[in-house]
Amino acid sequence: MFVTLAAVAGLLSAYIAPVSAQGGQVCNATSLCGSEAPCCSEYGFCGSGSFCLGGCNPLFSRSLTSCSPSPVCEPASHKFPDLTRVAMNASHYDGNATAFDWVLDKGDIMNTNSSGGELGMLLTETNGGTRISSTRYVHYGAISARIKTGRWGGVVTAFITMSDIKDEIDWEFPGADVTHGQSNLFWQGHIPDKTQGGTHNISSDSFANYHDYTIDWQPDTLTWSIDNNVVRTLKRSDTIDDQGISHYPNTPSRIQLR
Ligand SMILES: *[C@@H]1O[C@H](CO)[C@@H](O)[C@H](O)[C@H]1NC(C)=O
Ligand SMILES: *[C@@H]1O[C@H](CO)[C@@H](O)[C@H](O)[C@H]1NC(C)=O
Ligand SMILES: *[C@@H]1O[C@H](CO)[C@@H](O)[C@H](O)[C@H]1NC(C)=O
Ligand SMILES: *[C@@H]1O[C@H](CO)[C@@H](O)[C@H](O)[C@H]1NC(C)=O
Ligand SMILES: *[C@@H]1O[C@H](CO)[C@@H](O)[C@H](O)[C@H]1NC(C)=O
Repeated sequence: MFVTLAAVAGLLSAYIAPVSAQGGQVCNATSLCGSEAPCCSEYGFCGSGSFCLGGCNPLFSRSLTSCSPSPVCEPASHKFPDLTRVAMNASHYDGNATAFDWVLDKGDIMNTNSSGGELGMLLTETNGGTRISSTRYVHYGAISARIKTGRWGGVVTAFITMSDIKDEIDWEFPGADVTHGQSNLFWQGHIPDKTQGGTHNISSDSFANYHDYTIDWQPDTLTWSIDNNVVRTLKRSDTIDDQGISHYPNTPSRIQLR
């Protein structure tokens, strides 16, 4: 999958605001959802409809099969000549991944260059930051994004994979430093004990210039690349704990940009 994006920002607030509460009952490992509202959203609230779509956590939902099946990724290259492939309101999206490639979870997007297919993701004083998620799930594969990052202190541009049980692989770009990118991974919401984040040189200012950032996620190895040069390799075997359990991302994941 290949994504072309540009991060554009207007005014900014200091930090991304917490997502506002949606729905009713809180769900977590000890309090699963009930039959009326069976699905636990990624924000930790029970509901139905869009709550059962992207981000629905099967472990905290009424049962392991309460969440809607995850649409599977297909090889694709996405540009944004217009916004017709983006579902602009996540709570209206009905789960039809043929109709939309992306869901706008929060914030504002716009075309910054239609002929170039460039998407601007806006960060304003009031919108608390923008995030889009793919409608389809990747379960191993190479994902590249052509990005210009933000350059404002306290604001992190990110291109990540995120599973419904919070396996996560990250490219992150703290705005105060436009010549480095950071690589990270999480297994079920935790940074594996035996791994730590990496910091990697970018050959030119990442705000002013497009670069291609890649996450190549395979069952036994994970590599991060910049402009097709591998800058970090991690093996699944590097994440095995003392009990022999590997803490390696291994569940289907959406692609997210923010
Ligand atoms: C889980 O949710 C229940 C019910 O809302 C709450 O009482 C409990 O504190 C939560 N547990 C955790 C670990 O957040
Ligand atoms: C999305 O739709 C919901 C439900 O109709 C509405 O309450 C909400 O304001 C909409 N969000 C945006 C950003 O338009
Ligand atoms: C899903 O969207 C496609 C494309 O818009 C449409 O042709 C199809 O009928 C939709 N499927 C359902 C079940 O709504
Ligand atoms: C818009 O995209 C086209 C095609 O990639 C490119 O030639 C042009 O320079 C871009 N315009 C701007 C203002 O970046
Ligand atoms: C990153 O850049 C710094 C400063 O230019 C340099 O010292 C270092 O060797 C570079 N690291 C790599 C892995 O190229």
